Amino acid sequence: MTPTVKLNNNYDFPVIGLGTYNAGKEGEVEQVVKDAIDVGYRHIDGAMVYENEKEVGAAINAKIAEGVIKREDIFVTSKLWNTYHKPELVQQGLRKTLADLGLKYLDLYLMHWPFAFKEGEVLMPKDENGQLIPSDVDYVDTWKEMEECVKSGLTKSIGLSNFNSEQIQRVLDIATIKPVVNQVECHPYLNQSKLIAFCKERGIVITAYCPLGSPNSIARADFPAPLKDPTLQEIAKKHGKSVAQIILRYLIQHGTVPIPKSSNKRRLQENIGVFNFELSEQEVASIDALNRNARICVFAEYHKLYPFNVEF
Ligand SMILES: NC(=O)c1ccc[n+]([C@@H]2O[C@H](COP(=O)([O-])OP(=O)(O)OC[C@H]3O[C@@H](n4cnc5c(N)ncnc54)[C@H](OP(=O)(O)O)[C@@H]3O)[C@@H](O)[C@H]2O)c1
Repeated sequence: MTPTVKLNNNYDFPVIGLGTYNAGKEGEVEQVVKDAIDVGYRHIDGAMVYENEKEVGAAINAKIAEGVIKREDIFVTSKLWNTYHKPELVQQGLRKTLADLGLKYLDLYLMHWPFAFKEGEVLMPKDENGQLIPSDVDYVDTWKEMEECVKSGLTKSIGLSNFNSEQIQRVLDIATIKPVVNQVECHPYLNQSKLIAFCKERGIVITAYCPLGSPNSIARADFPAPLKDPTLQEIAKKHGKSVAQIILRYLIQHGTVPIPKSSNKRRLQENIGVFNFELSEQEVASIDALNRNARICVFAEYHKLYPFNVEF
């Protein structure tokens, strides 16, 4: 059983989950998610924009049909895409995700980004210069409609992703249902200490995306790879663990919920094998010292609601 943390609405949130962005080619993702459930994952992180929710859902439903899990044993997250921010589109976006997943409800629905794109069928609408076309919907109006999704039973919890502290506060100021989570990039080179403290004071849990530095996926080839860091390698050697396990254990002790992606059954197993050891205070401090605010996931930086122009 994966340990859990309590969300501010009293639901239990497994402290490690499976990331599903780039989880495989079409036709491979279902097996990855089945393998993950078989080796013990009980928290799956998805999104409409990953364009694989049919396969993710097929795997979950197959494992329910096999009797390996019940629906209530698995925590399923998805995300509202940027082209669905207009209040009248929010439930439509969630209903499409639920139909693709073949599920009646989500455990957690996140607003994927604070900014919106031009509404329509195309997920990445671009102008003639290849620039993504913004829409000026305010995320607080989107949030009010996300609250309706909880009231109508389509999702148990709602939350944010890629929101900075000022944007979170604006949502809290109008919310009647508080966000339970803010999902942001977090790894030893961007450890988000200030945002974690800010969110903790307000009862919001940080989910850590790109926890391993997203090698061979989102990270550019020249991005400093935490998996190759000498300090982490030394700590790994001392514990007889892999560097990935040290990073994931660090992120959990740091108070976050990492969602590593792997399409390999051995590495899936490795990544949840982090509950039989502990890092010392000194080791945590030496990993804290590796922080260099190195961000991998930057996107639509020209948008007026781009979140990463403030300190945290
Ligand atoms: N909210 C957002 O805007 C946002 C943005 C980015 C990501 N996310 C979420 O966060 C999840 C994780 O982020 P990510 O997939 O970009 O990056 P990540 O989990 O940091 O890294 C994934 C990469 O690491 C490799 N890997 C996994 N376990 C390993 C291990 N034990 N040893 C060595 N390499 C290992 C994987 O390769 P193999 O598959 O070959 O093992 C894959 O190439 C995503 O899948 C998605 O669900 C959310």
